[in-house]
Amino acid sequence: MYYPDELVEEVRMKSDIVDVISGYVKIQKKGSSYFGLCPFHNEKSPSFSVSPGKQMYYCFGCGAGGNVFTFVMEYENYSFPEAVKLLADRAGINLPEAEYNEEARRKESQRARLLEVNKEAAKYFFYQLRSERGQAGYQYLRKRQLTDETIRKFGLGFSNVTSDDLVKYLKSKGYEDKLIQEAGLASFDEKYGMHDKFWNRVMFPIQDINHRVIGFGGRVMGDAKPKYLNSPETMIFDKSRNLYGLNFARTARTNNIILCEGYMDVIAMHQAGFTQAVASLGTAFTPGQANLLRRYVSEVILAYDSDGAGVTAALRAIGILKEVGLTGKVLNLEPYKDPDEFMKNLGREAFEERIRQAENSFFFELRMLQRDFDLNDPESKTRFHREIAKKLCGFSEEVERENYIEAVAEKYHIGFENLRNLVLSYAAQTGLAVPASRPKSGIQSRPDPEENKRKPQKLLLTWLVEEPAAYQKIKKYISPSDFTEDLYKKVAEKLFEELEEGTLNPAAIISLFSDEEEQRKVAGLFNTKLQELSTKAEQEKAFHDIVVAVKRNSLDYFSRQLGTDVSALNQVIEGKKALEELSKTHISLN
Ligand code: GTP
Ligand code: MN
Repeated sequence: MYYPDELVEEVRMKSDIVDVISGYVKIQKKGSSYFGLCPFHNEKSPSFSVSPGKQMYYCFGCGAGGNVFTFVMEYENYSFPEAVKLLADRAGINLPEAEYNEEARRKESQRARLLEVNKEAAKYFFYQLRSERGQAGYQYLRKRQLTDETIRKFGLGFSNVTSDDLVKYLKSKGYEDKLIQEAGLASFDEKYGMHDKFWNRVMFPIQDINHRVIGFGGRVMGDAKPKYLNSPETMIFDKSRNLYGLNFARTARTNNIILCEGYMDVIAMHQAGFTQAVASLGTAFTPGQANLLRRYVSEVILAYDSDGAGVTAALRAIGILKEVGLTGKVLNLEPYKDPDEFMKNLGREAFEERIRQAENSFFFELRMLQRDFDLNDPESKTRFHREIAKKLCGFSEEVERENYIEAVAEKYHIGFENLRNLVLSYAAQTGLAVPASRPKSGIQSRPDPEENKRKPQKLLLTWLVEEPAAYQKIKKYISPSDFTEDLYKKVAEKLFEELEEGTLNPAAIISLFSDEEEQRKVAGLFNTKLQELSTKAEQEKAFHDIVVAVKRNSLDYFSRQLGTDVSALNQVIEGKKALEELSKTHISLN
């Protein structure tokens, strides 16, 4: 634990989960819980639940779940101590310096040091741009029509011609070679020693959504190659989960985000007042980035270059947007190459107009597809129509699909019924698209034998959290050692202890785990879907079956350990006895 457990618990108790989550997600009361659309995966009907009783959230669709800390960590991309800090500030609690255990201390301080050295480097570049030696960089940016205000807002800078300038500076500030290298700011070789990665370039600091510098892009001022150099990925710089400009765009309060290809595009757009512009980080747009955008908007307007590479990239991005359920539109920038040039030539109002005329991404895809066919040739035209029908199968929702069939039929002068039949025949052959699921969660994976063993254990833990009274009925038969997964056992130990003392507090148990993936699993344990059983007799039977299944699995497990584990024998003897007794016992619930 980073902060003392009691303090973490105090912060948690003063951060009501319904309050906190309502600040991020629209949720509505239904029965004893609140429901809303899950912010962590794409869905059209709400399966994201927040339980004031348990002080936990759980998504039945994607398996995301946890307590109030987990939520902030996932949503804000925060580490555990950062989440504690945010909620402590919100609740008006003063935090002392964090206490760390060995591993956590190492990781946390490494992150902090990397952020620090990047910030220091950004300050240095910023300062150089304004000095005598940075004049070339400053003039370059001015020539590209950036105002002083814009240069300041984006913290643009300059790396000098000398190739160990930054290293010298950072070392004078007390940073070690190793850290400077790990941050990707310099590298070492036998011949030249430590030398800067960036030199003689204008520098674009890349910030995360909380305005912290996590990396850099550096551009040459002429036509030399490579045009851009980017920091390598580090512990704090994940190129697939951050976007350039998002730190400003997230508060733009527009109902769309404009996705560009280049840093310069983003900057030009912001300067013209389109503060919702972002770009990926020198790599192709990723599903992680799409998910990030889905927290803020439902529509993304692609403003990619109008050349061939731009079109290919746009087509790929459209697929990714669709997968996470974002509406995509495509801007036409013709006759200009990119948003930056467009803005310089035609200006803000013309751009507004282009936004209004942005093309639905499906029609854009069809228009690009059409280029491969000759519509004057009946053979080719038929093939084109077949391709259209196949693509229409991608709409899994019937209403949406019908609407598209109708629109496409009209636009391409195809008989509605004909097109519809063609779609249906392809759908019959290949099936309709199924909605994308979040890869991080295991919930949609196929049932496996291991899962069959785990399931009763999860059900039992959930049951005990929902109906603590049942604990008295089973404590005779089940102990934490009957939980055969390490994580489950740890959770059961704590839970049984609390049940014994009558101080049940499942949300606090989650905080005992510092790893986000573990927290998610623990939340899952307390939120397994219990069957809806109406009569008491049915419930008692179900509960009995669960208890027996847990015990039988434990017996199997320890039988296999016989011979290697001395304590196994006792477990086996005890297990056999308990099972025998259980088979004769009726467990009553009330
Ligand atoms: P300008 O040419 O200055 O207007 O830059 P731009 O930001 O418009 O860049 P461009 O459209 O050429 O490229 C889009 C993005 O791809 C850039 O912002 C960079 O992130 C990335 N990129 C471009 N060239 C290179 C390169 O040579 N190396 C790497 N690693 N990334 C590049
Ligand atoms: Mn450009």
